[in-house]
Amino acid sequence: MTTIATTTMGTTTRPGDTGLDVVTGAFSYSGAAIADALLDSGRRLRTITGHPARAAQDSAIEVRPLDFDDQLGLVKSLEGATTLYNTYWVRFAHNGVDHDLAVANSRSLFHAAKRAGVQRIVHVSITHPSIDSPMPYFRGKALVERALAEADVSYAVLRPGILFGGEGVLLNNIAWLLRHLPVFAVGGRGDYRIRAIHVNDLARLCVEKGAESHDSVTDAVGPERPTFLKLVRSIADVVGSRARVIRVPPSTVPVLSRLVGLGLHDVLLTRDEFRAMADGLADTDGPATGTTTLSGWLSAHGADLGRTYANELERHFRSHGS
Ligand SMILES: NC(=O)c1ccc[n+]([C@@H]2O[C@H](COP(=O)([O-])OP(=O)(O)OC[C@H]3O[C@@H](n4cnc5c(N)ncnc54)[C@H](OP(=O)(O)O)[C@@H]3O)[C@@H](O)[C@H]2O)c1
Repeated sequence: MTTIATTTMGTTTRPGDTGLDVVTGAFSYSGAAIADALLDSGRRLRTITGHPARAAQDSAIEVRPLDFDDQLGLVKSLEGATTLYNTYWVRFAHNGVDHDLAVANSRSLFHAAKRAGVQRIVHVSITHPSIDSPMPYFRGKALVERALAEADVSYAVLRPGILFGGEGVLLNNIAWLLRHLPVFAVGGRGDYRIRAIHVNDLARLCVEKGAESHDSVTDAVGPERPTFLKLVRSIADVVGSRARVIRVPPSTVPVLSRLVGLGLHDVLLTRDEFRAMADGLADTDGPATGTTTLSGWLSAHGADLGRTYANELERHFRSHGS
């Protein structure tokens, strides 16, 4: 096992540490939080991203393209880095980009990291990935974890349920719907639990795991696990929504979601995302690894939540390169 030494700055170094790390998607959601946490801890940073033009003029982050068709380019983008922080994934299949492709791309990324001499990979996964899952998202996530374990690079997997804070989509868009629609439909009894973690808590965990050297798998989950119905009602309260929260048969949720999505030119919630949530896959019963409470965060940020709709298709499927 590799020896780790702690510097006086509180950051950790390992033999051969270059001081440089690579994070995927530093201008997207969790990647941005991880980038901030790494820069705060004194690391130099490079990102590989499909949206290089999103870099600020004075960004301290070196930017390289996330191009899975260019394996040699990927290797070069990873050369000189000690740790790769990987957030890459696709939320749903769209326009020929699907979970099978995301699995293959993830495998390419891990191979490139190995070839580039990266010492450690910190990988963001999801709660309850399963090779046997009928859902391509959860099956794909399990296949990526397996590919990581086979990549012959020391690794840490972090498995969040749902993320909140920062530029997150899910809670923001529930709030947007509660602000703009007269009715909000909850599938079934809404008694399935949501174990969310603040994106900055996830980022802190990533940096901590980056400093370790043994292989590990950890649920990245916050201290609270409200039912979905309670969560929706809490969001309605903090945004001052007048929408009626009603319960509908579970089978109607994907249909309603698709109809509203058509109006918004977005994919709101896929059939599998609803099914996973209703099956309890966004919940765990282990100890909390994040400290920020969802209820406290909602009280502090409710006034701003859902003022603007966050469009997933705009973020990741329509505006590549910008
Ligand atoms: N958000 C949540 O609530 C949540 C919950 C549980 C688990 N997770 C997991 O956390 C990880 C990061 O999620 P996130 O929400 O933070 O994602 P994100 O920042 O929106 O995207 C993460 C990375 O994936 C790339 N990406 C996303 N969609 C893509 C597409 N259609 N085509 C090509 N590249 C794409 C992004 O590319 P760019 O650099 O071009 O932006 C970025 O590098 C994922 O593994 C996800 O499964 C997230």
